[in-house]
Amino acid sequence: MTIRKAVFPVAGLGTRFLPATKAVPKEMLPVVDRPLIQYAVDEALEAGIETMIFVTGRGKGAIEDHFDIAFELERTQADRGKSVAALEGTRLTPGNAVFVRQQEPRGLGHAIWCARDIVGNEPFAIILPDELLVGRHKGCLAQMIDQYEKVGGNLVCALEVPAEETPSYGVIDPGAQDGVLTEVKGLVEKPALGTAPSNLMLPGRYILQPEVMDLLATQEAGAGGEVQLTDSMAKLIGQQPFHGVTFDGERFDCGSKLGFAQANFALACRDAAMGDELKSWARGFLD
Ligand code: UTP
Repeated sequence: MTIRKAVFPVAGLGTRFLPATKAVPKEMLPVVDRPLIQYAVDEALEAGIETMIFVTGRGKGAIEDHFDIAFELERTQADRGKSVAALEGTRLTPGNAVFVRQQEPRGLGHAIWCARDIVGNEPFAIILPDELLVGRHKGCLAQMIDQYEKVGGNLVCALEVPAEETPSYGVIDPGAQDGVLTEVKGLVEKPALGTAPSNLMLPGRYILQPEVMDLLATQEAGAGGEVQLTDSMAKLIGQQPFHGVTFDGERFDCGSKLGFAQANFALACRDAAMGDELKSWARGFLD
């Protein structure tokens, strides 16, 4: 069955970016000139997603405004004879953008469950917008959908990280490997140092069958006192096909200040208008 819907959990508190995120949603922080959530939506559009489901919370209204038509802005620019080309891709129609609330930030698993009625009884994608994934030949979700068409079931994006970093992530217990596909035998959320079953972490892209919603409904809080998506996904293993897809591209963890700064620098260096000047300035700055 085609993947038509993607869930974007955007209800987190973004405490690592305080005070910037006191009044501005983390997902609206810009990398060069576009907010993080725009990169996520572009990735979904490229993958053929038709319905974007945003799980929002208090103080996240700017996300809704971002994907609306900015009538005054567009009208004023038109009156001044100026282009609105920069707004391309920001106007989602009411038919393909849906907003639901997570009233308390009880964790990623709970946020996904809040979208259950809109997702309905069909497989769906999840994109965590604070993970900026830049695909080499195509976007991450498009790469995953290519594999979904071959094996179906549940898929998670997989990325190799140094062993000492595994305690920060959900990690795959790997089975047989076939090209970019790795059979998933188990999933562990934030394993203690030295106990991870592999170095393959989950960087926030998923294609899941709707049955995960029933599991999330009864899911208790796990690591960090939050309802963990990983715990419910782990219960699907053995019942349905479950694979990891090795991502071909770069990952920037924009939920952390270091990753966010790296993303801004890397993408600005590639910017046609300012990249060369920035690189030459950076060389001088580092000398
Ligand atoms: P994070 O784990 O990065 O949490 O969530 P956070 O609260 O946003 O940030 P910090 O750790 O306090 O700095 C990953 C994604 O899941 C969403 C977040 O908005 C983010 O996009 N999320 C997290 C929810 O929607 N609800 C939650 O309860 C938790």
